[in-house]
Order: sequence, then C-alpha cells, then structure tokens
Amino acid sequence: MVSQMVLDTLSEITVSEIQELDFSRLVGLVNEPNMPSGGGQTVRRVLELARPRTGRRILEVGSNTGYTSIEMASWVDSPVVGVDINPISNDFARKKAAAAGISNVTFELGDGHSLGFQDREFELVFCSNVTSFISDHRQAASEYYRVLGDRGILAAVPIYYRTAPPEDLRRRVEDAIGVPLPVTSLDYWIDVFSHPDATLIVEEPYEYVRQSSDRIERYVDEVFQQAHLDLQSEQKRAALRKRLSYFYELFDDNLSYAGYSILLFRRAHPNPEPILHQARLAFRGNA
Ligand SMILES: C[S@@+](CC[C@H](N)C(=O)[O-])C[C@H]1O[C@@H](n2cnc3c(N)ncnc32)[C@H](O)[C@@H]1O
Repeated sequence: MVSQMVLDTLSEITVSEIQELDFSRLVGLVNEPNMPSGGGQTVRRVLELARPRTGRRILEVGSNTGYTSIEMASWVDSPVVGVDINPISNDFARKKAAAAGISNVTFELGDGHSLGFQDREFELVFCSNVTSFISDHRQAASEYYRVLGDRGILAAVPIYYRTAPPEDLRRRVEDAIGVPLPVTSLDYWIDVFSHPDATLIVEEPYEYVRQSSDRIERYVDEVFQQAHLDLQSEQKRAALRKRLSYFYELFDDNLSYAGYSILLFRRAHPNPEPILHQARLAFRGNA
C-alpha cells in the first residue's frame, strides 16, 4: 500500500535525521492512523450532528493519512475531499482509500491558509487538530468560511488546555510538532472559529483518559507490523520506533492537562424569524 515516495524517503533518510523528525513528517513515513481526538466516535458524532445532505461536497482540512476523510466517505453518499500540505500523507491516504474500496473520497495537496476551492463550495468543512498547525489561525478560519456554503456547517475539534501545563513540557511538545504551541483555551478557539454570519450550535467538551506506557508500546508495536517498515534496516526501525514512542509518551503527558471539544458553527442564524416565546429543555421533577 505504501508509495514509492515513502520508500525512497525511507531509504535516503539517515538515523540522525530520523532522530530530528517532527511529528507530522514521522506520521507520514510510518503511516500511523492519525485519528481525530476521540477517533471514529468523533467522526460519527460530527456527521450525526451536522447531518450533511446527500450529494453535497464535504471538506476535511489537514486530512493527513486519510483516516477521517475515508471514514466520513464510508458513512455518506457524498463526495469528500481531504486537503493536506504533506504530499506523502496524501499519497498514503489515496492508497488507503483504494485498498478500502471507498471511491467517493479524493485527496488534494493544499494549504489551509489559502484553499484552492471556489467560494461556498462545501456543505460541511471539518477541521480536527489542524488549525493549531497552521501559523495564522484566524486566516485559516476565514478560509474555512470562504469555502463553506449557506447554511453549511463548520465542524472544528480543537485541542486546548484545561489547566496550564509545566512550561518545560509545553516547550517539548512545541519542538515535537514543529509549530508554536501557545497555551490556548476553549474560549480562544471559539473566538477563532466564530464568524459574523455563523452561530455556534453545538459545543460538546471531552477530556482525555491517561494511557499506560504498556498500552503506548502495544500501540507502537501495531504500527510497526506494516510491511514497509519491516523492510528497513534494524537501526532505522529502532530509531523510528524510539521517535514514535517518545512522541506518544510526551503527548500523553501533555494531554493530561488538555481537553477537546466538538464545535459546530452553522452559517445561518438559528431563528431566521424573531421568536417571542422562548423555551428551554424541561426535565421531569422541575418545579
Ligand atoms: C496532527 S495532524 C492531525 C490531522 C488529523 N486529520 C486529525 O485527525 O486530527 C495535522 C495535519 O495538518 C497538516 N498541516 C499542517 N499545516 C497545514 C497547512 N498549512 N495546511 C494544510 N494542512 C496542514 C499536517 O501535514 C498534518 O497532516
């Protein structure tokens, strides 16, 4: 399933370069599934809440090795487009879709700062943990809205801090992901994704469950079952494994201070007509 591009990169890369790889590039080479926070459950929840209409185009920004776009395409009868800045990840994603027999998904090279699509083309724009990787968060959000259709949904699943992490940990994560990691809050992301034409219609907060080192190692073992990694020299395999385990331990530590939310913004006012008799959810037993 792996492309010649990945095999060439793996054959040319040295052990010392592997030791310096940032997370996005490493993920591209080892083909880690790279799911959104919450995995497939988040994808299903977003589709359930956004209810994109059949046949309307769906965009994922930062599609990486394809997990979310392929998963979305398997649930809907609509064209799904994944955009990522990393050609190696796109290549993996295409091969993964073909192997899974999912034909309503395509992957394109692109930059979230300036997307190569017409205005208002998409019914649903999904961005998981990508906007924090894009240097200008607000420019990226304005691009998401530029390509989002009337009454369309922007679904964002940002990761943020619930409590401030130790500064040394924050710095190490910043080095790992290769982009600045300011200590952002849920309010910060809601502000970034807010738009004068859109209403925040869903806000579902989640927290992470801490993983044991054993579980992390078992997960890395699974990633390294792939044939293209088996072909590499013992030293390269060991260096790739060590780098991946290092990132997962680091991220697990970092995520113990963090949370994520499923946020849905709809490009429309919730009540296009004024409403006089407002209501609230009533529970049995309420006085
Ligand atoms: C941590 S991954 C996560 C994405 C993933 N879809 C998720 O499920 O959360 C971040 C991805 O963003 C991509 N990326 C970084 N900068 C980007 C940019 N300016 N435009 C588009 N994609 C970008 C990286 O190549 C990487 O695949």
